[in-house]
Amino acid sequence: MRVLGIETSCDETGVAVYDTEAGLLGHEIYSQVARHAEYGGVVPELASRDHLAKLAPMVARVLTEADTPAADLDAVAYTAGPGLVGALLVGACYATGFARALGKPAVPVHHMEAHLLAPMLEDTPPEFPFVALLVSGGHSMLVDVAGIGEYEVIGTTLDDAAGEAFDKTAKLLGLPYPGGPALAALAEQGDPTRFALPRPMLNRPGLDFSFSGLKTAVLMVVRELQGVANDQPPKPGNTLAEQDRADVAASFQAAIVDTLTTKCERALDRAGRARLVVAGGVGANRALRAALAAACEQRGAEVFYPRPLICTDNGAMIALAGALRADAGGQGMPIGAAPRWPLGTPLPERR
Ligand code: KG4
Ligand code: ZN
Repeated sequence: MRVLGIETSCDETGVAVYDTEAGLLGHEIYSQVARHAEYGGVVPELASRDHLAKLAPMVARVLTEADTPAADLDAVAYTAGPGLVGALLVGACYATGFARALGKPAVPVHHMEAHLLAPMLEDTPPEFPFVALLVSGGHSMLVDVAGIGEYEVIGTTLDDAAGEAFDKTAKLLGLPYPGGPALAALAEQGDPTRFALPRPMLNRPGLDFSFSGLKTAVLMVVRELQGVANDQPPKPGNTLAEQDRADVAASFQAAIVDTLTTKCERALDRAGRARLVVAGGVGANRALRAALAAACEQRGAEVFYPRPLICTDNGAMIALAGALRADAGGQGMPIGAAPRWPLGTPLPERR
């Protein structure tokens, strides 16, 4: 099967052609990060408009790169959810229209399923079963993956996603959006033991995460360093001495890394698995990688970090998931876009 994949769930437009025999034949990603930077986060309406402007020329370029006339495609896969509804609708309408014009099926893909299956695009993919830690700006999840279509969400965040916690803390420290990489770089200069920040949810059994308490704890530390009373808002921007700022960053990062590492170990125990797959932007964090590698080595488990193209939002994973789940699509299907869509359940009906 040769499948065109389209991803528009958030602030990346991703397009790819994947062939079940020949592999990835063409792909392109356009990131809107610069467009949203001045607002400190993704502005949904701007995201939708930008997807609309970029999608058609990207599809044309990727089909050319893949040396694939549209008529040779067997299906068009698109992210149907979860995500921003306007952004999803752009991809869903485009993909469904494109598929119908070709007389081929349009396959609605679950964004998190695509993340889970993405490591199969690598030359040495992990074998099933495995536990996946998916940590990005929009999601934090632990999933037990027994095989294609066999997913159990065994842990999720009760509030902010891990990347969101990085981004919000970075903003508090006066770092530019998206702050995760900048905060991680600053943390390298800092002392991770200087501030005793909470390790959220570690003292409780279970695999769920919660990062809002940690965010509040950092806020209190920053206020204290700024000499601001607890009932007052912190001073915006970079107001701290450079070493203080680096120490806050390092202490925050250590708290997140400890929490995620412990939860991963618990997840491997609970699911009885010896393979861990890490995906999503936060998976690029060096301290997290080192901690997970050490923890897995100690217990004789393997850890897989797919390359960045595969880890962050992209069209290749949508094309792959679409090819593997082609049975989910059809020519007469309604256009699917579900901002909320629990993993492992059928695409919710439109109301
Ligand atoms: O998967 P991703 O590229 O996009 C989506 O969220 O869909 O993840 C982006 C997130 C942002 O929150 C960013 O700050 C975070 O991943 N991130 C990092 C690092 N690189 C990216 N967080 C911590 N350390 C990093 N090195
Ligand atoms: Zn994603």
